[in-house]
This record gives sequence, structure tokens and C-alpha cells, in this order.
Amino acid sequence: MAYIQIRELKKTFKNKKSESNEVLKGIDLDIEKGDIYGIIGYSGAGKSTLIRCINGLEKPDSGIISINDEDITNLNEKQLMTLREKIGMIFQHFNLLKSKNVFENIALPLRYKKYPTKEIEERVDKLLETVGLTDKKKSFPSLLSGGQKQRVAIARALAAEPSLLLCDEATSALDPQTTDSILDLLSSLNKELGLTIVLITHQMNVIQRICNKVAVIDEGTIAEQGNTFDVFSNPQKTITKKFLSSIFKGPTEEELDRVAGDTENGRLFHLIFTGEKANDSLISKVTKKFDTDINILFGSIEYIQNRPIGNLYVTVKGNKEDIDNTISELKKESVRIEEFIKTEETGGD
Ligand SMILES: Nc1ncnc2c1ncn2[C@@H]1O[C@H](COP(=O)(O)OP(=O)(O)OP(=O)(O)O)[C@@H](O)[C@H]1O
Ligand SMILES: [Mg+2]
Repeated sequence: MAYIQIRELKKTFKNKKSESNEVLKGIDLDIEKGDIYGIIGYSGAGKSTLIRCINGLEKPDSGIISINDEDITNLNEKQLMTLREKIGMIFQHFNLLKSKNVFENIALPLRYKKYPTKEIEERVDKLLETVGLTDKKKSFPSLLSGGQKQRVAIARALAAEPSLLLCDEATSALDPQTTDSILDLLSSLNKELGLTIVLITHQMNVIQRICNKVAVIDEGTIAEQGNTFDVFSNPQKTITKKFLSSIFKGPTEEELDRVAGDTENGRLFHLIFTGEKANDSLISKVTKKFDTDINILFGSIEYIQNRPIGNLYVTVKGNKEDIDNTISELKKESVRIEEFIKTEETGGD
């Protein structure tokens, strides 16, 4: 059984007029120990509600969430407290105490649990080292950059040595460079401590950089989930393709329509290469073999989990048989191919 298993999870909120708003409509997820599991979705999709159900801050209406073989949906207050000690959480706006310095912010969960002073000192010093903030020990949050504040929040989340870290838009308030450094820190915590991480985001590049698994959540249901490489190289749903367009840049719909609409150009294809074949020697090979001309309109290559995914937009000229042969030859070389046909304009004959 998966480390975190979620089945048929449902949650409805009532608004002030007591109208029902079904926010989670039957979520199924399996998160394994050691995963960095990314959950991506638009604003209002239900991401925060889902993550709040996982640490017991929100009680679902029905369904099961089991962590380490224990169903957590029916725990009493005391059991919930014990559960939350094993789960760290970080947020978009860091949630640090302004009146306390870095050391005291990190020490907070340990003071709460009445750890001996000496042990608190030792632990916090070690955590400061882990997140690279030893020199900021006595600083107050107002003097720190966003990235430094998030490092303090991460150290505080790790103080009680949790086995699970939940991140709700933890990098959304940070610039791209700081985002990368926080993501790299999370990735190294995952490797070095074996920490399981569940990370919510609306940015595909966050998933691309560190997540081995991804789920796309759309209006309270899981639209698609799987290994990051598999989902990125073969997305099934329109919403996933939309999110991926921020990573795999390409021609716009209008440009594609214009090219596809001009028969002089030949036929228009989108080729997706995975694996080591993501190069254009393949293109020259097939054009030699068959009597076709391939013109590359746009090409890009992105690395997902250290494996390349290539995207090429090409037009192919030649007679029908040669074009069909060219395409089936390319398909043999583990290439996914989609043809663009200009939408016919309707009206008069
Ligand atoms: N405590 C609550 N009471 C009533 N409605 C709520 C409550 N919490 C969330 N909602 C509603 O549930 C829906 C989903 O909210 P949620 O915060 O889970 O979305 P999200 O995916 O995290 O969005 P965002 O990306 O903006 O953070 C929204 O329509 C929100 O108004
Ligand atoms: Mg949210």
C-alpha cells in the first residue's frame, strides 16, 4: 500500500447563503515514500483544501486518507496533534513570527514540545547549517529576503524531524532564481533525509525541476497523474497541455493555422521525440529514404528528470504516399506525431 493513499475524497463547503460548493469531487492519489509529488492546478481547483485534508486541518465529508497504513480521517484532537508533529508544512507567505529572531522561530516547535534548552540549541544550529543560514541566527524576519524567510520556514518545518513535508505554493512569492535555490534545497532534503514531499503549485517549471510524480487537479478532480516524464511526454488532457505550453514553447495557434492553411507549404506536423533520438539526423535519414522535403518551423528540447523531450514543428512536402511513408518511418523511431489540419471555414459553395 502506498505511503499516502487517498481514495474517493470529497469535501463540500457552504457559503454564507448556505449554497453548496463541492471543492473535492472524489480524489484518488497514491504517494510513495521518497516521492516529490507535485500537484498542479488553477486557482480555486482545490489544491490547498486537499493538502489541508492530508494534515488533518480540514475534515473531508467522505473518503479515505491513509498515511503509513493509518486512516487519518477520523482521528480525535489528541491523535491529530501527534499526526501533525510528523508532518511539516511551508506556505507562500512563510508565516514567521515577526517578534522573534531566526533562532527562536526555528526553535518554536521544540520549545512547544518542552525539549531541553541544550538540545534545542544543538538542533537549531544544525538546521541553520542545513538551510545555509548560520550567519542569520540572530536576525529578525523583517531583515531577511524572501528566499531567506522561506529557508527559516523550512528549518522550522523540519525541527520536529517529520517524515513528510507539505508545501503550499512555497515558491510563488519568490523570483525565479530564488525559486530555483529553494527547490534545490527541497530536492537535497528529499535525497539526504529521505523526506517525502508533496508540493502544490500552479507553475509547471516547479514540477519540471524537482518532482518525480505529478497530478493535475481540475475543479476538484484529478485530470491526469503519473511519472513526470510520462505525463510531460504524452499528456492526455487539454488542461495538462495548457500547463505544458509554458515549458514547451512553440508557434501560436494562429501561426499554425496560417501555415496549415497554405497548401504550398505541404502538410504540417508536430513531432515529439523522447529518448536519445531527439536530434535531426533522423529527419535527414527519412528524407533521403523517401522523396520528401521536411522544413523545420520550430524546434526545442527540454530535459525532464534528466531525459530529453524534443518538440519539432515541421512541414512535409511530397506526394501522398511518400509523406505517409515518411511519417510511419518516424513513428517507428519512437516519435509521437500529431498532424495539424486547418479548421475548414464554413459557408457558401
Ligand atoms: N474554509 C472554507 N470555507 C468555504 N469555502 C472554502 C474554504 N476553503 C476553500 N474554500 C473554497 O474552495 C475552493 C477551492 O479552494 P482552495 O483554496 O482549495 O483552492 P486552491 O486550488 O488552493 O486555489 P489557489 O491556487 O488560489 O490557492 C474555492 O472556491 C474556495 O473559495
Ligand atoms: Mg491554495
